[in-house]
Amino acid sequence: MNKVKSNKANLLKIRIVGDKTLRMEAQAVTEFDQELRDFIDDLTYTMYETDGVGLAAPQVGVSKRIFVVDFYWAEDGAVKKPRVFINPEIVFSDGKITHEEGCLSVPEVYEKVTRDSHIKIKAQDIYGNPIEEEFKEFPAVVFQHEFDHLKGILFIDHLTKMKYLLHKHKINQYLKRTNANGENIQN
Ligand code: NI
Repeated sequence: MNKVKSNKANLLKIRIVGDKTLRMEAQAVTEFDQELRDFIDDLTYTMYETDGVGLAAPQVGVSKRIFVVDFYWAEDGAVKKPRVFINPEIVFSDGKITHEEGCLSVPEVYEKVTRDSHIKIKAQDIYGNPIEEEFKEFPAVVFQHEFDHLKGILFIDHLTKMKYLLHKHKINQYLKRTNANGENIQN
């Protein structure tokens, strides 16, 4: 299949907690066209430019069921191997893993979150072809973190109330300092 490269990838603006799109349920992708592929190029470029291991479409203000990941590219000598998951589902999960997480949309917050350590997933690639895969440990954590974004869930939602309140204060100070969205988070 011929992929016509229309232009250079663009750096997209990352939405910060408090932004409404981050809290919306993302919509399924139905058109697997050049516009989708151009968007995914931009999303992937933005993930690398912002030093992320994953980036979901709602984080750049696009409420669609799409995310990109590259689990190990930041490690020494690692080669970039971007992966895209469209309309993903988790069809099996097992075990528990606790890992420190951060998020490009939640600046300056790093906290341990417990998730499933072994998952089986289904999704579609950029041409709409079905994907079935298994992930364990760190890749499973990253997948679940990005998958949450498609449901309007942020990793701070998994924290205890006390930890959340502590970070909420810090986040609101950050928002005030940078005026990222022009407003504070309310709850
Ligand atoms: Ni995130």
